[in-house]
Amino acid sequence: MMINYKNDFPILKQTVYGKPLVYLDSSNSTQKPQCVIDTLSEYYQKHHANIHRGIYELSVRATTLYENARRFIQEFIHAKHTHEIVFVRGTTEAINLVAQSYGRSQFKKDDEIILSGMEHHSNIVPWQLIAEQTGAKLKIIKILDNGEIDLAHYKTLFSKKTKFVALTHASNVLGTINPIKEMIAIAHEHNTPVLVDGAQAFPHLTIDVQALDCDFYTFSSHKAYGPTGIGVLYGKTTLLEKMPPYHGGGNMIETVSFDRSTYNKLPFKFEAGTPNIADVIAFHTALVYLKNIGMEKIIAHEKHLLQYATEKLNELPNLRIIGTAPNKLGVISFVLDTIHPHDIGTVLDREGIAVRAGHHCAMPLMERFAIPACVRASFGLYNSTEDIDALIAGLHTAMRLFH
Ligand SMILES: Cc1ncc(COP(=O)(O)O)c(C=O)c1O
Repeated sequence: MMINYKNDFPILKQTVYGKPLVYLDSSNSTQKPQCVIDTLSEYYQKHHANIHRGIYELSVRATTLYENARRFIQEFIHAKHTHEIVFVRGTTEAINLVAQSYGRSQFKKDDEIILSGMEHHSNIVPWQLIAEQTGAKLKIIKILDNGEIDLAHYKTLFSKKTKFVALTHASNVLGTINPIKEMIAIAHEHNTPVLVDGAQAFPHLTIDVQALDCDFYTFSSHKAYGPTGIGVLYGKTTLLEKMPPYHGGGNMIETVSFDRSTYNKLPFKFEAGTPNIADVIAFHTALVYLKNIGMEKIIAHEKHLLQYATEKLNELPNLRIIGTAPNKLGVISFVLDTIHPHDIGTVLDREGIAVRAGHHCAMPLMERFAIPACVRASFGLYNSTEDIDALIAGLHTAMRLFH
């Protein structure tokens, strides 16, 4: 089913180098619909005050808008409790929070943390840092040639020392949607909690954290048509309760004296300082926008774009798609002949087409596929088959120029 919501996104109405802008970099960050932009401006024009502390009308109103967003997100991802939704700056901060708070209090020397070979640097480096601090070790699940996780290998990695599993729900390079429900069940058989990096999956799939039974789930607003600088850590109550605070400061305390401080209840224990109020409220608007269109409709549309683009790209001689798993998001990475991905990106840019070229913050994955970099086209709900036709035409131009 074709949908067309491009008109809701003012930024997409411009031209670049005299050509209509074709935005194919939604895995990196999505564009914002007018309603999100309006919410931001309206919030600052009409509602702003600091929250959770004022007794006057404006502050009460801002607090209500902020907490309504939390409740909406709870329902959107089917979390059991509102206090399981912690606002952070984004996926990266959410993962660092869990690594430093849960990891610091739980990991000991020689404990093992399982990650997959397709993780974004944001789901590698925080675990390396905590491993260095505690003496824990990382174990890495192999990736098959088609870009799927090697489940058989995953099962062999568990030992008595396994303390944590951190996995991406979907790869930002390969597009692979991982069988995380099954992988979580396997980890739970070994009494091991699982963090799911939902940065890529959240905006393009329906998420039910209770059905997945994940222990933590993380995502970023800016990849889901909302503002930058805001994201969510979902955590099960039992785990969040036993974790020490990550940042100290205002809002996260119950009492403070120079001898000792006690901490606020969830989720405020993890929200130190004045939060990003405006962006939380505008993120709420983005999610209402998605809900009104319907995630099922968006998923079907992006699947159609993926099929169409895969067919068209496969018609190009010497083009190799990196990641051919049967279950993929609307993300296609590729290398073309001997042309450097940055050269392809530059030629496409001159045609008004925005793609990402590089290592995509997944250097170990580049190594796995023996490439230094690749070009990635990724789709959002505003893309159309015409955008893909423009990409193919741009690639023909690149081939002409470099041969
Ligand atoms: C799979 C994955 N994890 C984590 C991140 C980091 O997200 P953010 O930069 O919003 O914190 C990204 C961003 O590209 C991603 O694709």
